[in-house]
Amino acid sequence: MIEIIERLKKRAILAPMAGYTDTAFRTLCMEYGAAYCVTEMVSAKGLVQGNHTARGLLAITPQEAPCAVQLFSDEPKSMEEAAAFVCEQHVGVKPFMIDINCGCPARKVAGHGSGAALMKTPELAVEICAAAVRAADVPVSVKFRLGWDDGSRNAVEFANRMEAAGASLLTVHGRTRAQMYASPVDLAGIAAVKQTVKIPVIANGDVVDGLSAKRMLEETGCDGVMVGRSAFGRPWFFAQIAAYLERGEVLPEPEPRERTATMLRHVRLLCANEGDALGMRQARKITAHYFKGLHGAAEFRSRAVRVNTLAELEELAAEVLLVAC
Ligand SMILES: Cc1cc2nc3c(=O)[nH]c(=O)nc-3n(C[C@H](O)[C@H](O)[C@H](O)COP(=O)(O)O)c2cc1C
Repeated sequence: MIEIIERLKKRAILAPMAGYTDTAFRTLCMEYGAAYCVTEMVSAKGLVQGNHTARGLLAITPQEAPCAVQLFSDEPKSMEEAAAFVCEQHVGVKPFMIDINCGCPARKVAGHGSGAALMKTPELAVEICAAAVRAADVPVSVKFRLGWDDGSRNAVEFANRMEAAGASLLTVHGRTRAQMYASPVDLAGIAAVKQTVKIPVIANGDVVDGLSAKRMLEETGCDGVMVGRSAFGRPWFFAQIAAYLERGEVLPEPEPRERTATMLRHVRLLCANEGDALGMRQARKITAHYFKGLHGAAEFRSRAVRVNTLAELEELAAEVLLVAC
């Protein structure tokens, strides 16, 4: 854990993103130099009830390590059982940390008392965090927002409570739940959390390049930055951030050849992990991101969502290269 924290000044962490940060994408982001990654959120209740989908989300390959597992729940018992399950019966590599989701704004999570809703019930969040700490033999972290809405910003108090409940690390997304993913990120709000606790704090929200990563580190005083949406279709984003943080170098976007090769690799990994049918269905969502900004991107994007086989995608990639190079 100490080794990982030391890497954070020079590298960004891949944020958990449901539907995106699966094994395939995590593998690529780690290859390009992410400090660590986190699984998509996994329902603690689903896990202990033996839900196949929830258990499938736990698999971690050696190429993704260090990787944390993120859990969500609205009550301590399932969190305790799920944390123990994750530590004892992990699939592949053991996660180096368990992260508790206290930031998800989605109705299917926050509407049932977990995710960001836990910021409205901090006593319950304390019990849930303490339950995970009791059951896990790896460190426990908590990812949360600045509060539920502007009238109830309680990130500082929440952070203190999580630290007291045994959390080893905190990640703060600098928005309230009401702000969802819009509004500028409030760096001062994140800085206030960093100042109040002794454990490491990671800042998150709207890192779009090396400069914004550096600014976030400097203005919040945080121990590291976590990036999400800017990495869609751009796993090399982690190499760009590292180059900037290490030596102030601005790396250009890769050439179309590297971009399409990385996209194909991503889809091959998806197919290898999920099988061709499911892999190609998921590929439709991600390939569009890789074409962004390339010459002829709009047309390629609309064709990419209709491809059914890897061979068709390879043909499309070859065409992209002819037009873009
Ligand atoms: C599609 C999508 C899925 C997400 N899923 C999760 C999740 O499973 N767990 C979580 O803690 N946050 C989730 N988030 C929030 C991100 O981890 C991150 O906090 C947010 O996107 C802000 O960072 P960014 O501006 O770098 O994207 C998700 C965000 C997006 C856009």
